[in-house]
Amino acid sequence: MHAIVIPAYGDSSVLEYAERPDPEPGPGEVLVEVAATGVNFIDVYHREGRYPMPLPLVPGNEGAGTVTAVGPGVTDVVPGDRVGWASVMGSYATKAVVPADKLVRLPEGLSPDLAAAVLLQGLTAHYLTHSTYAVRSGDDVLVHAAAGGMGLLLVQMAKLRGARVIGTVSSAEKEKLARQAGADEIVGYEGFPEAVREITDGAGVHVVYDGVGAATFEGSLASLRPRGMMALYGAASGPVPPFDPQRLNAGGSLFLTRPTLAHYTATREELLSRANDLLGWVASGALKVHVSQRYPLAEARRAHDDLEGRRTTGKLLLIP
Ligand SMILES: NC(=O)c1ccc[n+]([C@@H]2O[C@H](COP(=O)([O-])OP(=O)(O)OC[C@H]3O[C@@H](n4cnc5c(N)ncnc54)[C@H](OP(=O)(O)O)[C@@H]3O)[C@@H](O)[C@H]2O)c1
Repeated sequence: MHAIVIPAYGDSSVLEYAERPDPEPGPGEVLVEVAATGVNFIDVYHREGRYPMPLPLVPGNEGAGTVTAVGPGVTDVVPGDRVGWASVMGSYATKAVVPADKLVRLPEGLSPDLAAAVLLQGLTAHYLTHSTYAVRSGDDVLVHAAAGGMGLLLVQMAKLRGARVIGTVSSAEKEKLARQAGADEIVGYEGFPEAVREITDGAGVHVVYDGVGAATFEGSLASLRPRGMMALYGAASGPVPPFDPQRLNAGGSLFLTRPTLAHYTATREELLSRANDLLGWVASGALKVHVSQRYPLAEARRAHDDLEGRRTTGKLLLIP
């Protein structure tokens, strides 16, 4: 089999395309022939060593394909089943070993490409809009990087829940895409808290979904109404420096949370319930998935460069 391997932390040049021995599924595990792998910003953090992992490391947290073998004790999937997953390391590969309890069976008609494109970011957008802060009809919601992989899904889900959505983007092309996804108002990053105040008649938004981090953190707090919620779910521009909780008081008894997908898919029931909603919306057409680029697996470096360079919109896939 082939995989992308990280022998040492660093920039995209550390990603090596290498031949590896075929893996074998252990107890409770399944071997999958990978059809498509999702690229996510967390793959960059893993590559950089921001979340240290033992090396050498096969990165990648999301994929879909066909089961080719099952380990001892696995009874609910069999070879030939089409499956997808999120939050499982080792997905930048032609074959992946995945714990059976992390798998989602793909419904008839859902291609592995689409599954690998929507599972990780879709489950994340689901918990952010339904659980971290359950968006209500009439809420004002701010979504940063609104044309990104996460952004396009957050915009659509907040609209499905009846919100007015304000998005930030860095280019006219990104503005067009975010508006097509349903964003009501689009603003640039420069002076966005003032623009948000103006749009909301001085009130501020009920919730900010901020995956940009360092560059937007202070402005996001300044965009909230009293008792508003700051959902800081990522750090594409870099990590947020240490911060004085008194800032939350000064901003109006604000809430700050730093959530992550694993804690919102903590049980098999929770994973399947969110996946069921998500894949149902994809099947019905209520949720559109924008795959902007497909790269051969061997060209993972280029995918990382494009993602970090802010040159992408929607979802990127690696095709083994
Ligand atoms: N906590 C969780 O459970 C969870 C799960 C999934 C993803 N995430 C987070 O969600 C965020 C988005 O991930 P994604 O995979 O969907 O990526 P993405 O949004 O498609 O790409 C990142 C976007 O962030 C914006 N950005 C602003 N400043 C940037 C900078 N200095 N460098 C790079 N990008 C910058 C860019 O959009 P503009 O050019 O429009 O500014 C860029 O296109 C990441 O922070 C990721 O870690 C968190």
